[in-house]
Amino acid sequence: MEVYGLVGNPVGHSLSPPMHEAAYEATGVDARYVTFEPELDAIADAIAGADALGVAGLNVTIPFKQDVLDLVEPDPLAERIGAVNTIDFGPDGPVGYNTDAAGVTRSLERHGVEIDGGSAVVVGAGGAGRAAAFALSDSGASVHVANRTAEKATTLAAVVPGATGGGLDTLERVEDADILVNATSVGMDAPDETPVPASYLHADLAVLDAVYAPLETRLLREAADVGAVTVDGAWMLLLQGVEAFERWTGLDAPVDEMNAALRAHLA
Ligand code: ATR
Repeated sequence: MEVYGLVGNPVGHSLSPPMHEAAYEATGVDARYVTFEPELDAIADAIAGADALGVAGLNVTIPFKQDVLDLVEPDPLAERIGAVNTIDFGPDGPVGYNTDAAGVTRSLERHGVEIDGGSAVVVGAGGAGRAAAFALSDSGASVHVANRTAEKATTLAAVVPGATGGGLDTLERVEDADILVNATSVGMDAPDETPVPASYLHADLAVLDAVYAPLETRLLREAADVGAVTVDGAWMLLLQGVEAFERWTGLDAPVDEMNAALRAHLA
């Protein structure tokens, strides 16, 4: 039996265990998925210990995604994003990936959104914003990053090919955009809050909200009201997990079963 898991602090409320265990059940992979909550200063020992114990793979979440970059061999995309959320313990040591990026592009593609040649606005320049900006740019979109702290957006834009960045006063660019990604925490546990004024939303827009609690955020509600394509945060969560499962096992992930398990726990 293989052991996979999630490392974070805290990890108590994670939806990854039921999602991955549904995948093992559907594919017949003999594995378990467990959560680990090391002390904040123990992440290096935790990764080395997992490697020594023969753990097959780990997801990594807050607050360790940046720390882990120095503890594994990151693939080029994870290195550019500056964060690792998936570790594969191979024969040559731990390799780090960032599957949040694929979570963004696969979520949009699954909803029929063409990224290549489109123009995208990413709100937020933290870990999720960085993953979204690189992912969309690598898939052929022109990217603008808008962030409350404008300097973080311009710093990020400087390393994403062709991207621009600015403060929240630049959000009016959404009016001319094809894709909007909310990569801030605005709306999380706050159904009345939105990161983007409704007046900027329009029918030719596709909106991906990384927030998944609640699933129907004010942003998605207002986007649906004007006829935009809406993609909720569970898709991102699902498809980063799908990408991790596929990297670990080399199998096609049973997306429908993983989706059902995830949504059963979100409902
Ligand atoms: P994550 O890894 O999930 O992206 P993070 O790195 O803490 O989390 O980033 C949170 C993002 O949400 C940041 O872009 C943050 O803006 P700042 O860089 O200015 O802090 C954004 N954010 C959080 N609360 C916000 C708020 N009330 N209004 C606007 N942006 C907010």
